[in-house]
Amino acid sequence: MRVSVIGANGKIGRLLVERLQAAAGTVPVAMVREEEQAAALREGGVEAVVGDLEGDFTSALDGADAVVFTAGSGAHTGKDKTLLVDLWGAVRVMKHCIARGPRRFIMVSAMRAGDPDAASGGIKPYLVAKWAADEWLLRSGLDFTILRPGGLTDDAGTGRVEAAARIERRGTIPREDVAAAAVHCLRTPETVGQVYDLLSGDVPVEKALR
Ligand SMILES: NC(=O)c1ccc[n+]([C@@H]2O[C@H](COP(=O)([O-])OP(=O)(O)OC[C@H]3O[C@@H](n4cnc5c(N)ncnc54)[C@H](OP(=O)(O)O)[C@@H]3O)[C@@H](O)[C@H]2O)c1
Repeated sequence: MRVSVIGANGKIGRLLVERLQAAAGTVPVAMVREEEQAAALREGGVEAVVGDLEGDFTSALDGADAVVFTAGSGAHTGKDKTLLVDLWGAVRVMKHCIARGPRRFIMVSAMRAGDPDAASGGIKPYLVAKWAADEWLLRSGLDFTILRPGGLTDDAGTGRVEAAARIERRGTIPREDVAAAAVHCLRTPETVGQVYDLLSGDVPVEKALR
């Protein structure tokens, strides 16, 4: 299975590419923004494509069986980039997938994106952008899974999470465990059509997403 990773130079993206490269049966296609990033990936044997969600990204999706969207404009840019990358970049990729494939689409969204009104302060515009992208995906007809992790950490993954359509408590989750959840979803057709809030927990990823 060829998996386009959009946001492959990001923290989750890198972990995901490593996992897909190491696993049997999956081949990552890493989309990054800079030629130097692509060259470094290629040196490690990873197929890499330069693309930009604000420009042309389509070659990253050529021949792919699935896409994982884990790009984001980050906390150090303005709300314009939140709109143009987290929302409109995601919608542009979805539109391309509807027209040309692939149909399998895993979205790395964010906890509380289902209900931005539950948040207050500076994070609300970000959650509204994530909500709109998720809504677009829910109505797209694509074979989606939406992962909505809580606060991301760089701690080592445990392989154990809490997952549910909605989790009320606040919490965190290692990026490694989000990457593990994305890989599990790619391998598990039963996760198509599901939306998961994700936090660190006690249940093995495979069981938690069942
Ligand atoms: N931080 C949290 O606690 C938290 C919680 C829940 C969900 N999330 C979401 O989880 C996702 C992944 O998080 P992360 O920590 O892995 O993020 P990250 O390290 O900031 O990675 C985001 C990636 O998106 C890429 N990107 C930005 N603009 C782009 C564009 N125009 N075209 C193509 N790629 C672009 C960046 O490229 P460059 O490397 O070139 O800059 C970067 O590699 C994000 O969507 C984030 O919003 C975050």
